[in-house]
Amino acid sequence: LQVNPFDFVVFGGTGDLAMRKLLPGLYYRERDRQMTDESRIIAVSRTDQTVEDFRATVWAALQRHVPAADLETAVWERFSARLGYVSLDATKPAGWEPLQTLLKGHEDKARVCYLATAPSLFGAICRNLASAGLVTDTCRVVLEKPIGHDGKSANAVNEEVGAVFPEDRIYRIDHYLGKESVQNLMVLRFGNALFEPLWNSSWIDHIQITVAESVGVEGRAEYYDKAGALRDMVQNHFLQLLCLVAMEPPAHLSGDQIRNEKIKVLRALRPITQADVKVKTVRGQYRAGSIDGQPVPGYADELTRSSNTETLVAIKAEIENWRWSGVPFYLRTGKRLPVRYSEIVVQFKDVPHSVFPKGSGELMANRLVIRLQPDEGVQLNIMTKVPGPGGLRLRSVPLNLSYAEAFKDRYPEAYERLLMDVVRGNPSLFMRRDEVDAAWSWIDTILAGWEQTDMRPDPYAAGGWGPISAALLLDRDGRRWHDPEL
Ligand code: BG6
Repeated sequence: LQVNPFDFVVFGGTGDLAMRKLLPGLYYRERDRQMTDESRIIAVSRTDQTVEDFRATVWAALQRHVPAADLETAVWERFSARLGYVSLDATKPAGWEPLQTLLKGHEDKARVCYLATAPSLFGAICRNLASAGLVTDTCRVVLEKPIGHDGKSANAVNEEVGAVFPEDRIYRIDHYLGKESVQNLMVLRFGNALFEPLWNSSWIDHIQITVAESVGVEGRAEYYDKAGALRDMVQNHFLQLLCLVAMEPPAHLSGDQIRNEKIKVLRALRPITQADVKVKTVRGQYRAGSIDGQPVPGYADELTRSSNTETLVAIKAEIENWRWSGVPFYLRTGKRLPVRYSEIVVQFKDVPHSVFPKGSGELMANRLVIRLQPDEGVQLNIMTKVPGPGGLRLRSVPLNLSYAEAFKDRYPEAYERLLMDVVRGNPSLFMRRDEVDAAWSWIDTILAGWEQTDMRPDPYAAGGWGPISAALLLDRDGRRWHDPEL
């Protein structure tokens, strides 16, 4: 299980992402003894502090983000010993000597430069890394989303990074691809004979993907207001999920096989233009309301100004290919919805003809629900005879697979898995440049449509399921959003 020795350099090493996800993730990898003694984690940031100060900050962060039962003194001692810190403004070409000194003589290790900074800094950091002579032949760079603000700016970022790193050493992270339940999607589809013959427009009525969040924009209002739900969630996480649901089976999982299949789906997405943007998309923005009985402020109050940014988006997407023609993919995500949950619902078609007498109960079409979080699992609704005398009575009953019950051990979080993939040099769960381009091209058309039609977000109360327009999007097609309680 141990990975080869590495130096993991995190730019933006004192930021929110590092403290909330990267360092806790690496701590768990330490706990599982996946790191050799020589491996180091080096944080780079402008803050002028000593390595001891940095270690104290990390310890405080772990206490916040790792359950107390998982924090072990012996593990922390091993972990903190490999933490390094360099104070440096990485956007400037000067001042790199301390990092050079730290890395000198370690060229044979796997070197990872993780850019947990604003994307506008990616280009400058890469250039300075190169001129400081720190880009070894195997050095990899990890880019956090958002990559750009639209197709054009993403292209500019990719050009700048690409001038220093070859494409096969650029890892564009989408943490959804590291989620266990998302990876299980491929196993479900391609490891079982049962589903794939039915996985097409002959048997599937439609597909829904929902990522509901009860949180608001937290401390990220400034970033979020420039992004909005479409850029923040759909351009990356949703389109990746959609690809995994819709793609053709790859020949195998290594190298570029999965990415070659995903790109075909992205390129087959029907553009949503000015002509149909109002029919196929919904924008919403939360107003004040309450969640779990607690009052919460509206988005504009949190931002302290009015805004035209959407905190909820719902879309009817269509894939123009042989397999999916006529099968809508309904996508929905929003902040300040009543609960946090994510799921993919595959709604099968009705049986062609009912052999059962009237009054025995409604035949419900089969439904496969893949629950991504929380309570990861898979549920398949099937029609069943209600046992007992008194004639034939039918009911739809779920077959349930709960991860927590089936697999008792803790399993790694998305970031943990992906960070180790970078160290190992396995890029298959990261986004290739052409995928990012294709995803932006579809998103850009929607953004342009919103602007051309001056489509503003519909208000919804925090703690509710979004504006009525989100329900109407399906209602118009004679369908409804899946209720997670059912
Ligand atoms: C991030 C978005 O990429 O994903 C956040 O920027 C969002 O706005 C988060 O809250 C959701 O991730 P998860 O793993 O909690 O579903």
